[in-house]
Amino acid sequence: MKYNFDEVIDRSNNRSAKYDEREKKFGVKDVIPLWIADMDFKTAQPVIDALKARAEEGIWGYTSRPDSYYEAVCGWQKRRHGWDIDKRMLSFSLGVVPSLSSIVYIFTEPGDKVLIQTPVYSEFYDVTESWGRQVTECPMKENEGKWTVDFDDFEKKAREAKVFFLCSPHNPLGIVWSREELTRMCEICIANQVLIVSDEIHSDLVFHGRTHIPTATLSPEIASHVITCISGTKTFNMAGLQASAVVFPNQELKDKYDKFWFNLDIHRNNAFSSIAMETAFNEGEEWLDQLLEYISGNFDFIQEYCKENIPQIKPNVPDATYLVWLDCRELGMDNAALRSFMIEKAGLGLNEGWAFGRSLSGFMRLNAACSRKVIEKALKQLKAAVEARHS
Ligand SMILES: Cc1ncc(COP(=O)(O)O)c(C=O)c1O
Repeated sequence: MKYNFDEVIDRSNNRSAKYDEREKKFGVKDVIPLWIADMDFKTAQPVIDALKARAEEGIWGYTSRPDSYYEAVCGWQKRRHGWDIDKRMLSFSLGVVPSLSSIVYIFTEPGDKVLIQTPVYSEFYDVTESWGRQVTECPMKENEGKWTVDFDDFEKKAREAKVFFLCSPHNPLGIVWSREELTRMCEICIANQVLIVSDEIHSDLVFHGRTHIPTATLSPEIASHVITCISGTKTFNMAGLQASAVVFPNQELKDKYDKFWFNLDIHRNNAFSSIAMETAFNEGEEWLDQLLEYISGNFDFIQEYCKENIPQIKPNVPDATYLVWLDCRELGMDNAALRSFMIEKAGLGLNEGWAFGRSLSGFMRLNAACSRKVIEKALKQLKAAVEARHS
């Protein structure tokens, strides 16, 4: 089947946070929403068909997870990433963020430190600080748009941390980590008794011939220190179904995690999510391959457009995720001015860069998972706003 990602779908009646919460987030209703990380595309047709059939059943009582669900999750990881998961080590979760949050709560004490590499997914701050733990930042080093790990600093910060949140692939920089980088980070963590938590939610959204390496496949020694969060919700645009999976290195850690969620009586999929996940993993590859090609085209379009028309704004070329990190420092605005410029002058609803690294200034994150027509309209508005700045 050929999917049409060019179609602009009206999501205004979709109960979508991205659209409905614009006023709350940006103070106005009519910005083009290129912020929160979901896509403006319909998911794979087999998933839609499976959920329609499930809806038609008309009985949505308490659910169980059949073997076929576990086989689909493990089969996907094996086929796409070469990772053989022991299905007995798989736990359910309502989402990757709830998993990260509970991991902080369960495996650290108040005041303990969680190591993060900034800029990074802003929830890494929130789930740490909301439990009274401290974030310890290891800022990435930037050189002409290329961001790399400062290993000296990483080693120093690891000495005082209990947990390391690894974002692999990396949001918002779109980095697909190399085997060497991953191994080095993990070895430092192991030497300092730091629990590695690998958030691999973006692992299927990889471009430019790069290969995602699951952290738990690096070596048996590293695997024994890693908790991995995986999900089909980002890949197949179904975050609203609220489901993901966590892979534990051993029974002891898994039992602690499962006990926490059992105590809250949260351990079952909702009536739709396990079917969606299973179908996506079994039958969604054709859609995903076309999606990746389309998004890659959006990245090229953004690059070309900015180079030709708005050279003051420098987008990175992400190797993963559908999120583009915009370097707007040449506009010479502080964060508050940049925010109001993007909203009021350019009419764009973007994520502010400082949320991903609190000391950063002059960056924005743009969600490129929408029709190219929308991207084009957004960039035209941005160009006009930049040109009108001094007039
Ligand atoms: C790195 C990362 N982890 C987790 C999430 C959200 O996961 P979930 O919706 O499963 O809670 C996102 C969403 O953007 C993300 O970028």
